[in-house]
Amino acid sequence: MKVAIVGGTAGLGFGLAVRLAHSGAEVVIGSRQAEKAVMAADAAAKASGAELQGGANPDVVAGAEAVIVAVPFPGQAPIYKGIKEALGPGTAVIDCTVPLASEVGGKATRLLGVWEGSAAQQARGILGKEIPLASAFHTVMAAALEDASHPIDQDILVCGDPPAKETARRVVELISGARFIDCGPLENARILESLTALLIGINIRNKLTPGAGIHITGL
Ligand SMILES: NC(=O)c1ccc[n+]([C@@H]2O[C@H](COP(=O)([O-])OP(=O)(O)OC[C@H]3O[C@@H](n4cnc5c(N)ncnc54)[C@H](OP(=O)(O)O)[C@@H]3O)[C@@H](O)[C@H]2O)c1
Repeated sequence: MKVAIVGGTAGLGFGLAVRLAHSGAEVVIGSRQAEKAVMAADAAAKASGAELQGGANPDVVAGAEAVIVAVPFPGQAPIYKGIKEALGPGTAVIDCTVPLASEVGGKATRLLGVWEGSAAQQARGILGKEIPLASAFHTVMAAALEDASHPIDQDILVCGDPPAKETARRVVELISGARFIDCGPLENARILESLTALLIGINIRNKLTPGAGIHITGL
């Protein structure tokens, strides 16, 4: 499975790159600067023991089965406008963006209001309905992903279009200890995105590293 990670040079995207490459996926890291992506791919190769490629964001998404977008909210709209034309017919997009208030000088435990309802729905507005879109990975912290030798033991909550959720399920199942949970349509992204702010607050109050995650019981 070929997975392109836009914004994969740091944070959540980098952690996902390490985990997915470790599990045998063909991972390509994207960046606004191709050289930075190549350096991140080298670092992820060392961390995962696998081979990765890197390149400019619009170049890496071409031909990928899954495109994971993991960038800060202020960069999300320009990133989607920059990659939209390069997305092929067989590609599903998995958005991880959270509109944290800390992106504009506020608290990381609070969310910004987004006109469309959520960051993922803002992405839908830019991409249109033809491109399958899911929203996922809001409740797993980057630090929990970086060491691929330990299972993460967390549920991954995913909402969106059925074909994109199916692709997301296959991505999630590559991560040791992760369980895919179908959370319904894309409109539920506003709930999932708010969980990041909630978990950041829990992490701060309990001084947690690498951070709390989510388990849905009773399934
Ligand atoms: N970190 C977490 O644990 C975590 C957990 C849940 C959800 N999230 C969400 O996932 C997204 C990524 O978070 P993160 O902590 O991984 O972010 P980050 O480390 O700050 O940034 C990730 C990458 O995004 C690119 N980027 C940064 N600013 C950008 C901008 N203005 N425009 C376009 N690209 C930009 C950079 O890549 P280049 O410079 O190489 O282009 C950077 O390496 C955020 O929306 C965050 O709320 C994060």
